Amino acid sequence: MSRRRLLGGGVAALGAAGVGAATGYAIAGNRAEEAVVGSATIPWRGVHQAGIDTVPPQAHSMFVGLNLQDRVGPEELIGILKVWTEDIGRLTTGAPALADTEAELALLPARLTVTVGLGPGVFDAIGLPDRRPSWLAPLPAFEIDRLEPEFTGGDLLIQVCSDDPVTVAHAVRVLIKNVRSLVTIAWTQRGFRRSRGTEESGTTMRNLMGQVDGTVNPTAGGTDFDALVWDDGSEQSWMEHGTSMVLRRIRIEMDTWDELDRPGREESMGRTLDTGAPLTGTSEFDEADFDATDRFGIPVIPPSSHMARARHTRDGERIFRRAYNYDDPPAPGELSNSGLLFASYQRDVLTQFLPIQQRLDEFDALNRWTTPIGSAVFAILPGVVDGGYLGQSLLE
Ligand code: HEM
Repeated sequence: MSRRRLLGGGVAALGAAGVGAATGYAIAGNRAEEAVVGSATIPWRGVHQAGIDTVPPQAHSMFVGLNLQDRVGPEELIGILKVWTEDIGRLTTGAPALADTEAELALLPARLTVTVGLGPGVFDAIGLPDRRPSWLAPLPAFEIDRLEPEFTGGDLLIQVCSDDPVTVAHAVRVLIKNVRSLVTIAWTQRGFRRSRGTEESGTTMRNLMGQVDGTVNPTAGGTDFDALVWDDGSEQSWMEHGTSMVLRRIRIEMDTWDELDRPGREESMGRTLDTGAPLTGTSEFDEADFDATDRFGIPVIPPSSHMARARHTRDGERIFRRAYNYDDPPAPGELSNSGLLFASYQRDVLTQFLPIQQRLDEFDALNRWTTPIGSAVFAILPGVVDGGYLGQSLLE
């Protein structure tokens, strides 16, 4: 429908619903605001790859796990990473990728970032087994796990985030299409948070259980963050300025969670649902008091709550969480298929993530309603500066 027709009578024909207000057309102010969201960019080139300390996290994400085809060796991997370097460099600035067949879709990056990682299997494939970081391996099996192969493992990761889902779809398509003779898709996992502009920027996200999720987290860009997240190259020099990522697909049993009353929900977390404050406080960022007891001597924050179990036991055990919700079509006969794409970044999986996950595996009040169904670990490559390419420090 042409703009002229829409303005000159088409609106009445369409009725008040949907296009009725003709938002972008009639109100010049809105138009400018909308264009700002679409044209916003996040610098991708830099010491670290973007998409980890990018705040606020973009509204939409797609995590794609890829497997290398048998014939891929070092030369082919360099080829893949060079093509991605070029294409990501373009797409994140709002320019079409090389050989972009839908070039117009690239023009609104909406804070697009692409973050690339290597899975454990790559190092044997390229004949460099000694370059694999010691923590880069599948996680040990946990009692709570019900892992499905279609969400587990992978040789390569691309994490694509943007405030616009069309941009995400286009970037994923282009990046995969341009290397399709060398990889196969192991899995794709789509996640979302609130749309940009729906709430004040910087508000901690809510997961689909309704909880404020992400409160206790190192501040992106802060000193703590640097030490906890970015690799310093001491174990594998090529990893300097990279990091590790753990991606867990955690199914939430929304239908049984529905049966629990509000106090029960708050006790399972140790935090209130309205503000996300610890049960011993009044606002979100209040320090939790794990020693406080009620008049019967019972701890106010149950030791079995998720927060109490997940709390670090020493400073270096902290991780950076950057999760997304998922809500996919249910299987026939089921009512929901939702959960959390739990993504955490840390310098060392074994000393930071693993002890937390082991405690949660032993006991966590939340386990009744949550089940890990996918799991993958990746080495997130250092960033790209001055004409270099992704993975250069490993491959040259
Ligand atoms: C569906 C699964 C999960 C849900 C719904 C969930 C939700 C939450 C919520 C609502 C909080 C409290 C607010 C906050 O500080 O963010 C929290 C805290 C936390 N969670 Fe989870 N979480 C899940 C899985 C995990 C997993 C798998 C890990 C790590 C292995 C983890 C580690 C943490 C940590 C470290 C904290 C901060 C604890 C503190 O020091 O207060 N969570 N989570």
